[in-house]
Amino acid sequence: MLFRKKDHLVGLDIGSSFIKVAELKISKKGNSLKKFGVAPVPSGAIVEGRIIDMEGVANIIRTLFKSQKIKEKNVAISTGGHSVVIKTITTAKVPEKELHTTIHSEAEQYIPYDIDDVNIDYQILGESEFSLDQMNVLLVAVKKDLVAEYIDLLSLAGLTPKIIDVDTFALQNIYEVLPGSDPETVTLLVDVGASKTSLNILKGNISLMMRDNVSGTDQIIEELSGQLDLSIEEAENMVSGNNDQKNSKTLTEISQRIVNTWCSEICEVVYTFQSSSNENKVEKIVLSGGGGFVEGFSDNLKSELNVDVVAINPFEGLILDGKRFPDSFISGVGLQAPIALGLALRRMDDK
Ligand SMILES: Nc1ncnc2c1ncn2[C@@H]1O[C@H](COP(=O)(O)OP(=O)(O)OP(=O)(O)O)[C@@H](O)[C@H]1O
Ligand SMILES: [Mg+2]
Repeated sequence: MLFRKKDHLVGLDIGSSFIKVAELKISKKGNSLKKFGVAPVPSGAIVEGRIIDMEGVANIIRTLFKSQKIKEKNVAISTGGHSVVIKTITTAKVPEKELHTTIHSEAEQYIPYDIDDVNIDYQILGESEFSLDQMNVLLVAVKKDLVAEYIDLLSLAGLTPKIIDVDTFALQNIYEVLPGSDPETVTLLVDVGASKTSLNILKGNISLMMRDNVSGTDQIIEELSGQLDLSIEEAENMVSGNNDQKNSKTLTEISQRIVNTWCSEICEVVYTFQSSSNENKVEKIVLSGGGGFVEGFSDNLKSELNVDVVAINPFEGLILDGKRFPDSFISGVGLQAPIALGLALRRMDDK
């Protein structure tokens, strides 16, 4: 069509263990999945969210776009972990035009980096529950050198980043449009990746609490590699299901121990939230990320917190061609796909 507004973006989730790419066709009749692909990242190429091997990672992205026949060059990416700070702050209510200055001067005390080294963004969440003169603001600060690094990476891969989002927000973005999500239910989104975990408690499509930590499946892989004297690649293979009978007991023992630490960290966040917000109790947990595959994690969380724990199905509600995307493929990548899909939903004119 001549006047079709070509503003869609390809969603690119650059994980430290897997890169995921998604392209959607967004229309009033419903959103359909055009492309989806995953490519592994060798260990050490991305560490703590920083790109160590620029050429190598750019190559993986280029090859992934080629193999999936994705022509679109404009992408939405996201960051998370160490170089991103997300905080809810309470500040005096000020007129719109003064907000920028107020937030910037207030932000300094909440950010562990020099204010000149970060890009700051914010969103007003609403009036403070404690004072009519104050409001809650969600503050996001991303280190400028991290942003520059991702821009360089994408340029090497021949792509243009139009949106640089935060992993947690991209996950929330897709979760909110899933047919099974009920905004009135207090829901905790938990994404356990290879090197980090993000937690986000939602109600009414508003985030009530967000936390990040450095737990992830790398902990299991590293312990396994140490105990059994395996290379990281061999240990990763075992964790991802190519398990030899001989060592399965060791894997189960390590997984259980680490899953217990993940559960304690999550419970601590839930209890902190519930004690500071006396009317709200977490009613449902939605799991995503490769950590969701780890045996016992979901059951353990469920029995500790006595709430429903479900694995995300981020493809729910999307129109998809069953021949190109069979059920076995969709269920195999569902846990790892939501951030890329949440990014693919972003439009060029989004903030
Ligand atoms: N079938 C499986 N069983 C158990 N673990 C699995 C399975 N498939 C993948 N994993 C684990 O999930 C990890 C990848 O998860 P994910 O794609 O969420 O990580 P990532 O997004 O690359 O990491 P991060 O977000 O921390 O940078 C792998 O390192 C692997 O250990
Ligand atoms: Mg991830």
